[in-house]
Formats: sequence, C-alpha cells, structure tokens
Amino acid sequence: MMPRLTLDCFDYEDRNAMVDAMEVMVTAFDPSFGEAWTLPQLSGVMMMPGTWLTIARIDAAPLGFALVRSVLDECELLLLAVDPAWRGRGIGAALLQDSLTTARRKGITSMNLEVRAANNAVRLYEKTGFEYVHRRPGYYRGNDGQLHDALSFRIDMLA
Ligand SMILES: CC(C)(COP(=O)(O)OP(=O)(O)OC[C@H]1O[C@@H](n2cnc3c(N)ncnc32)[C@H](O)[C@@H]1OP(=O)(O)O)[C@@H](O)C(=O)NCCC(=O)NCCS
Repeated sequence: MMPRLTLDCFDYEDRNAMVDAMEVMVTAFDPSFGEAWTLPQLSGVMMMPGTWLTIARIDAAPLGFALVRSVLDECELLLLAVDPAWRGRGIGAALLQDSLTTARRKGITSMNLEVRAANNAVRLYEKTGFEYVHRRPGYYRGNDGQLHDALSFRIDMLA
C-alpha cells in the first residue's frame, strides 16, 4: 500500500466530495464508451438513502473513488475509478476493499456489479472474490453506437 493514501466515506450529499469524484470521473473513463456520469447524475444518486461515496486521496489530491448504492441487505457497486496516472498501485483494490468493509459494517450481506465484458476491471473483481453471475449480450451502447456485452458479478459476504 502506498504512503499517505486516505479513504474518506460520505453517505450524504457532500458537495466537495462530489466535485472531487468528478475531477477523477472526467479523466478515468474512456469517452468512447460513454460510461462517465455527470455531476447532476452523481448528485441525484447521492440524495438516495443507502448510497455512499468513497474518495481516495494522497495529501489533498483526489485520485480515485467508489460509489455504492444499497437497498436493505444488498448493495451494488455503481462506479469505481482511478486517475489514469495513478493506476496499477493498488488504489482501485483499496477502494474496493474499503467498500466491502463499509458494506459489512452496515449489515449488508452481498455486493453486485455490472461491468463491460472487455474492461480490465474484471480482473480486479475476480481477484477480490466476486463470482461471475451472467452475461447480457449487447447491453451497453458506446458513443460510437457499438454494442458491448455486460458481465454481472456478485460477492456473498457471509460465505
Ligand atoms: C479498474 C480501475 C479502477 C483499477 O484501478 P487501479 O488502481 O489501477 O487498480 P489496482 O492497482 O488496485 O489493481 C488491482 C488489480 O486489478 C487488476 N488490474 C487493474 N488494472 C489492470 C489492467 N490494466 N490490466 C489487467 N489487470 C488490471 C490486476 O489484477 C491488479 O492486481 P495486480 O496489480 O496485483 O495484478 C481503473 O483501471 C479504472 O479507473 N478504470 C476506468 C474506470 C472503469 O472502467 N471502472 C470500472 C467500471 S465502473
């Protein structure tokens, strides 16, 4: 783990945290897939009860974030992103582990996620213990109109 990495969790609509997440959002997602959210989209989901946003920082600089929404004892990882300049140093894995720890603390027993089949993040999810559930052919449409399969993963935190 790298020095000075802090993970701050917000389970309410914190303007500064959302601005930090947007700073990472605009660099992290390849525009051709149209996967990045806008600030109003992020703000809208943060207003929903059971949502939390975790910001990874070194010193004050935001380098990554994770966004999770929960309903009762289940939750969904909506977004996970790390600044391209800071990838491959364990920040994504740290955010994912922290999201699982937060979920357990809240009494949540499983986490689900959906990811584009060709996304490198699949390796991270499998390595963390997520299990493949199913494939949805052509589920995502990129900005270029191309269709991409989605893979669903789930981790049972009671197992
Ligand atoms: C997915 C993402 C968050 C990973 O962040 P990261 O900080 O680079 O991840 P880590 O350094 O913690 O890597 C953890 C593991 O993930 C896997 N991994 C991460 N990036 C990878 C890559 N480019 N190629 C292959 N495996 C990769 C590896 O197994 C790695 O473990 P290892 O280094 O011990 O082999 C980052 O690549 C990202 O922001 N991608 C764009 C946004 C996105 O598509 N998010 C997922 C869907 S919301």
